[in-house]
Amino acid sequence: MSGYAAAGEVMYHIGLSNDMLCGAAYALLPGDPDRVEGLARALSPSAKFLASHRDFTSWLAPMKGGAALVMSTGMGGPCVTFAVEELARLGVTTFIRVGTTGSIQEAISPGDVIVNYGAVRMDGASLAYAPAPYPAIADLDVTRALLDGAARASIPVHRGISISTDSFWPGQERYDSFSGYVLRRLQGSLEEFRRLGCSNYEMENATLFTLASVMGLRAGSVCGVVAKRTESEAVAPPDVYRRAESRFQSIAREALTLLMKQDQVKEK
Ligand code: URA
Repeated sequence: MSGYAAAGEVMYHIGLSNDMLCGAAYALLPGDPDRVEGLARALSPSAKFLASHRDFTSWLAPMKGGAALVMSTGMGGPCVTFAVEELARLGVTTFIRVGTTGSIQEAISPGDVIVNYGAVRMDGASLAYAPAPYPAIADLDVTRALLDGAARASIPVHRGISISTDSFWPGQERYDSFSGYVLRRLQGSLEEFRRLGCSNYEMENATLFTLASVMGLRAGSVCGVVAKRTESEAVAPPDVYRRAESRFQSIAREALTLLMKQDQVKEK
């Protein structure tokens, strides 16, 4: 089966059908299922739980400009492909990743927020959709809405290119793994990406941006910094995480509000 889902058809992996989505064309995609409820309630106090299947927990938030879905993707590119493939079949056209990340620039600290407008394709999943030289870039309107949304919420943000890896440890040049070994070709890669001006490591942007581009959909990304890799391999304690979370919740809400308004004007 390809193309749009039939009425009432339940998507196999995410456990959702188009009637459950109530026409939602916008989706916020955190990686962690535990982050879904908080995000959904930040969008609307009358948000409601929809389903929980595998990595994919979903809530629906009614907003002034329409319904927004919040659904976890789980970690890494392969999980993102399930989310985008099945949500696209249900009519979702705009995707915003709302995640956590490790910064690789001195000026970016734990608790800060980064809007990524592009990603280095160190993932494997996107190669099933586009050859390696194809760029992983975010949608301009979605990115603009995230930056403007942050300004409206008076939250300073960094902007930059992430490196999306399939491995949290050697892929991000971490040595605190079981074996402690990083392949020779990845040794020095953090410093190289830093010198190339990249801003942060994470594990989903490249797959999301590539899939959205090749499918004619829109995607953007806002991430909270929970590790500062120029100083340490460690992930920050929960209070830093909560600071980043409250920031990316506000930014995502403002960005969605702006996008919904702009889209309504375009439809007229
Ligand atoms: N997520 C990542 O992928 N890397 C980090 O360092 C922190 C969060």
